[in-house]
Amino acid sequence: MPDLRSSDSLAAFVADVEQLRLRHADEHTLAAAVATRLAPFLRQPDWLADAHREPWEDRYRQHLLHVAPDGGFSIVALVWKPGQATPIHDHVCWCVVGVYQGEECETRYRLYQEGDERFLVEASRDVAAPGETVALVPPAEDIHRVTCIGDDLAISIHVYGADIGTLGSSINHRFDDLAIRPDAGNATLVNWRDFVASGRDAYAVAH
Ligand SMILES: [Fe+2]
Repeated sequence: MPDLRSSDSLAAFVADVEQLRLRHADEHTLAAAVATRLAPFLRQPDWLADAHREPWEDRYRQHLLHVAPDGGFSIVALVWKPGQATPIHDHVCWCVVGVYQGEECETRYRLYQEGDERFLVEASRDVAAPGETVALVPPAEDIHRVTCIGDDLAISIHVYGADIGTLGSSINHRFDDLAIRPDAGNATLVNWRDFVASGRDAYAVAH
């Protein structure tokens, strides 16, 4: 575990999130409050030690910054070189993202079914600059991909409502093997979590 004393901003933010957890039992309210609290911290230059700004050459990199003692939330820094991207994924838990430096593009998708085939259709594309935050709370449709679109390194701070130290990642499910179509046509919009709950989703079980 990194030494929190290396960053006053990180330590102060951790203390604030602990307070917000005591105040907000509802995940939507908590995630929104964490996003609001994270925004001003993103302007602090001392958040990250040099080691936490290091990218990987071939894929984006996750640096674990903090896990709450009870595992109730975690904070990571994700570092992208230009062009690097996440898989298309959703999350196991609520998630707050704040851009620390660089430019990131979040592309959101909807999942459709036509006969036996499932496919994705792009729903939105948003570019986020430093200081901007977004909150995602499952099980709403939150299938997305994040790409570093600028010419420089991108770094974002992510707060997850789970123990990422144990899980390794907040990614719940990957959708990279699905085709992306320009429109849905007559296909049916799918909430795949409902399919999993009903035991009908062999696709999810296989991952
Ligand atoms: Fe994500």
